[in-house]
Amino acid sequence: MNTLQKFNHNINNSLITNHKLMAPFKRQIDALIRQSIEPLDSKNDFCIIGAGKMQEFSLSFLLSSFQHVLITDIDVETVQNAFNAININQSLKERTHIQRLDVTGFEHINFFNDLATTFQRNMTYQQIDQFVETKMAKIKTYQFLKNQTFDCIYVSPIYTQLVYQQLLLTCSQLRQQNQPEHFIKYLEQLMLDKMQEVIDQFNHNLVSHLKKASVLIVVSDIFEIETGSQFDKEVREALNDDHMDQRYQRYVSEYGMGLGDYGLYSLDQLLNKAFDKWLIWPFSENKQYVVKVNIYNN
Ligand SMILES: C[S@@+](CC[C@H](N)C(=O)[O-])C[C@H]1O[C@@H](n2cnc3c(N)ncnc32)[C@H](O)[C@@H]1O
Repeated sequence: MNTLQKFNHNINNSLITNHKLMAPFKRQIDALIRQSIEPLDSKNDFCIIGAGKMQEFSLSFLLSSFQHVLITDIDVETVQNAFNAININQSLKERTHIQRLDVTGFEHINFFNDLATTFQRNMTYQQIDQFVETKMAKIKTYQFLKNQTFDCIYVSPIYTQLVYQQLLLTCSQLRQQNQPEHFIKYLEQLMLDKMQEVIDQFNHNLVSHLKKASVLIVVSDIFEIETGSQFDKEVREALNDDHMDQRYQRYVSEYGMGLGDYGLYSLDQLLNKAFDKWLIWPFSENKQYVVKVNIYNN
């Protein structure tokens, strides 16, 4: 297992598997998928990006609607385990294909290993810039799932998990090796700025895999909330009163946009949004995420 896969595998393993806790969220996601795909004439190919433990949608429902379902994730081991545990008959299983996929290209260009080795040599700000620029030039032309198109693509919450958390982990390893703090801080800020380009490229790739008259469903985590906190109470009130958009705008004007909302904002520039919905993703007993689901028509 290489670095990027191992990193995501550890995160996936830290997620609880609690079907009872997840059941209402899963029902809401299935209902949104059902509603979004209803107008489609062709229902041949469905693709899932970032499937992980496959806890938030029903695979058997997808297979009852589509001829072929492609399940992808960088952590294919977790997907395979989840798939093996699903109780569906053999003929449905045969219409499912699992594929290991890095949606960013960072694995392909060996970003993290090269970064660690390059950093261990003498560094200057200019050399850091040059390293990042050279790598980013390759990212901007990276393509995944070449020559495959889909009637519907479903993207699991993934934007906040792309690259940046792995970068922070690499930086903490550089700190342990006593590498100069000012260079590490500089790298963290530089890469945070580059995340927009990473997300834009991912989104362009997504759009290029949509057939004519197809649907893109994207779930993105926007806020983390501690169960029972004041913020939890405020968010639930906003959801009940249908004021979540206003609550979100207030939050953004105070704190700015995060990676989760940037991902959706960037897609809004590429496709026509048909509708959206705010939902609560129950992550664990104590932690939940407020996610936004955007549905786009191509
Ligand atoms: C938060 S999880 C989504 C939840 C998941 N659907 C579940 O039910 O467990 C995000 C998924 O994105 C995957 N992922 C992260 N970075 C990726 C990358 N560069 N390429 C492809 N998948 C990636 C992770 O392995 C993880 O399974």
